[in-house]
Amino acid sequence: MSDLFKNYIDGKWVAGVSAKTFENRNPANRNDLIGLFPASDVTDVDAAVQAAKRAFPSWRLVPAPKRGELIYRVGELLRKNKEDIARSMTREMGKILKETRGDVQEGIDTAFYVAGEGRRLFGETTPAELPNKFAMCVRVPIGVCALITPWNFPMAIPTWKMFPALLCGNTVVLKPAEDTPHTAVRLVEILQEAGVPTGVVNLVHGRGEEVGAALVRHRDVQLVSFTGSAAVGREIASASGQDLKRVSLELGGKNGQIVMEDADLELAVEGALWGAFGTTGQRCTATSRLIVHHEVAKQVTDMLVARAEKIKIGDGLDEEVEMGPLINQAAREKVLKYIDIGKQEGARLLMGGSVYAAGSCANGYFFQPTIFDQVTPSMRIAQEEIFGPMLAIIKIKNFEEAIDVLNGTAYGLSSSIYTRDVGRAFRAMRDIEAGITYVNGPTIGAEVHLPFGGVKDTGNGHREAGTTVYDIFTEWKSIYVDYSGKLQKAQIDNAE
Ligand code: UN1
Repeated sequence: MSDLFKNYIDGKWVAGVSAKTFENRNPANRNDLIGLFPASDVTDVDAAVQAAKRAFPSWRLVPAPKRGELIYRVGELLRKNKEDIARSMTREMGKILKETRGDVQEGIDTAFYVAGEGRRLFGETTPAELPNKFAMCVRVPIGVCALITPWNFPMAIPTWKMFPALLCGNTVVLKPAEDTPHTAVRLVEILQEAGVPTGVVNLVHGRGEEVGAALVRHRDVQLVSFTGSAAVGREIASASGQDLKRVSLELGGKNGQIVMEDADLELAVEGALWGAFGTTGQRCTATSRLIVHHEVAKQVTDMLVARAEKIKIGDGLDEEVEMGPLINQAAREKVLKYIDIGKQEGARLLMGGSVYAAGSCANGYFFQPTIFDQVTPSMRIAQEEIFGPMLAIIKIKNFEEAIDVLNGTAYGLSSSIYTRDVGRAFRAMRDIEAGITYVNGPTIGAEVHLPFGGVKDTGNGHREAGTTVYDIFTEWKSIYVDYSGKLQKAQIDNAE
């Protein structure tokens, strides 16, 4: 009998109403079944939303510092269980242990950062224009928030959304990706152990088309926060538009790393390898384009290929392994499709390009690190998000062209430039169209106390993390207190 996992609704672990389930298997070894999870439907969603709605009136009145203390306890429990959770995450989604430890750490950092906000959550006061009148604005919670999260950061991203949402006094329903339901269970178990009140946090497993869609359409859900593909983001935004729901979207990327001829090439190559092949290329922030100055292009390419060929592929639980599998069969088919597209477009496949099935890897979704050169900026492999270990090298003549190529996609999440010229670095910081720019660092490595998100098709103007996340999870309320004892009319009584 395999383990049977449940939804968490109204403070109880419950099976899905329909009793249908789906399998969760280890992507490094398909024979390893982690467990069965409820394939929930609209009835389960409704029960979770109603529980969150009932919990809201009392949770919103818990003083924010107290809500922060709960999140602090969650941080401590995550820290205590870090290694164990990281191991089960590697088993569930494949990335190597060093990275799943980092993923849990990102949740711990978020917990401690957000907990402190309980004693800030600042509003503003400003002088009123009339005598004996006081003016201020305060943040107020929004209500029931639906959090729809991806599988590539199965701990960090749910915590980025959930902890600030709770701190602000909202209640939540979490719908984790079908590929990583187990990590979500671990997180909710910890919230339960930390003492989260009944109904404040609910968890519903299942498919996006069913559970996600039902959450987006539910009249009692006031806010949807989604991280995933631009295509799904568009659907969520249009469906939510009908109900005027607040929607925060963090979508795709086609992140570029520029390497100028004056750069420290060793450092740039190390950064590109980590950016392109870390997490098997499955980060929104992954480096998928290397934009290299023609004078150093050959040298950089040779160095990259030499190192990428040595990357040890395998089960991420093995500490020696540097790159784990792709998440599932569909992901592998997508990467294969783009390899054909790249070849047809006339790019040159320098290395990789095939599934990797040596030895014990035969039962997983492994893929070779893949590098194309002779890529031109408009090719599909230089424009579309692939989400796999695939790097496109584009040669450029000068700094201006580098910036144009970098900016020349629909997305604008992360970006990077390697140069020793401070003038170029500052021009890049000014002219790159992206939510995140690194100078002499790879496109990945965002810290939780800075805003995270992007421009253009990467999102809809919101930023998670940092202090900006509180703008997602609160409404502003302006308050006027008139203690003059008489009717005073703004714009009228004080007119010239
Ligand atoms: C993501 O790729 O979806 O900067 C999140 C980074 C991580 C977060 C990535 N701290 O790569």
